[in-house]
Amino acid sequence: MNNITICMIGFGNVGKAFARLIDRKAESLALDYDVEIKIVAIATGSHGNAIDPLGIDPNKALLAIEGPGTLNGLSTNPAPSDMREFIALSEADFVIEISPVNYETGEPAITHIRAALQNKMHAVSANKGPVVHAYHELSELAKINGKQFLFESAVMDGAPIFSVFREALPCSDIIGFEGILNSCTNILIEMMEEGSSFNEAVTYAQSIGIAETDPSGDIDGWDASIKVAALATVLMGIPMKPQDVDRKGIRDLTPSAIQQAKNEGKRWKLVCSAELINGKVSAKVAPQLVSPSSPFFSVSGTSSFVLFKSDVLPGLGILESNPGPETTAYGLLADILNILKKEPGNA
Ligand SMILES: NC(=O)c1ccc[n+]([C@@H]2O[C@H](COP(=O)([O-])OP(=O)(O)OC[C@H]3O[C@@H](n4cnc5c(N)ncnc54)[C@H](OP(=O)(O)O)[C@@H]3O)[C@@H](O)[C@H]2O)c1
Repeated sequence: MNNITICMIGFGNVGKAFARLIDRKAESLALDYDVEIKIVAIATGSHGNAIDPLGIDPNKALLAIEGPGTLNGLSTNPAPSDMREFIALSEADFVIEISPVNYETGEPAITHIRAALQNKMHAVSANKGPVVHAYHELSELAKINGKQFLFESAVMDGAPIFSVFREALPCSDIIGFEGILNSCTNILIEMMEEGSSFNEAVTYAQSIGIAETDPSGDIDGWDASIKVAALATVLMGIPMKPQDVDRKGIRDLTPSAIQQAKNEGKRWKLVCSAELINGKVSAKVAPQLVSPSSPFFSVSGTSSFVLFKSDVLPGLGILESNPGPETTAYGLLADILNILKKEPGNA
């Protein structure tokens, strides 16, 4: 049995879903993959930290952080608040970085992932910040330390985007893509189509764990822009920051404009696009009025859709229907299993 240990940096919507997912999949992981996953360390921003080399019971951790509770009582070892020390002391095989995204700098997540790799741990992340702000540095650091840095769920949750091009479509040069990559704004617009106010729609999105702690990142198009930048950086090989994307969110989209579109049989969608022109990527995020003939028209709920154009595949669409935090958690689990598959002796 391959017993692997995990250090989780962040235990919010995705972290809790990951804890439940590995509990639910424990039997299948053991029987089909010969893997047992044990969480040995969990860090949060304001709900304490815990390290227990024998394993932290996920159900106890979930209970401990309800309301204002903390994880501190579950710690058998010193659990410092300095994350570099915390990661080193966890002695885990994998660090999962799922702290809130920082669109402008990618920190402190970059520091967390750097610490993991320097301590010879694999790093898996759903956080887009490190992908756009430090992809090349972290990938190089991973290589030097004989470890991997994967981030499948950073864009489109659990849908295979990065791994499809990495594993299944070698030597395919992406020349552009367009899609709907922010599920939160998709839901907000839909709720306004059904008559909700902007604030009612935001409260609902937060209640189902789709809007992040601070929803302005979604509303102002930062989340969509950072995803566009991540796809351009990794898949098109052109480093791009969210600040480089021509960005307009949905803040100025009024319920009356949304109703008018509905009356005309059309819909507003926050559309992302990127195109390679003379070796540079021109990227845009903006609300767009779409008619029923558009592939974006029926992308509803938390669903995402992206249509890639490559030199060998003129159109490849990937649709992910109604994901939630568990889908993101699955992306993390898929990265872990894909890394294990490539460990010496498992190839
Ligand atoms: N939600 C999704 O389905 C989804 C989809 C794709 C990608 N992502 C990405 O996944 C990450 C996590 O998302 P989420 O929805 O789980 O966010 P969340 O619910 O806001 O949880 C964030 C967690 O990180 C902790 N945290 C905050 N600052 C920290 C720090 N400096 N060091 C260590 N821990 C810290 C928070 O602790 P406190 O609560 O105590 O502050 C909380 O446990 C984000 O980067 C997000 O962009 C999420």
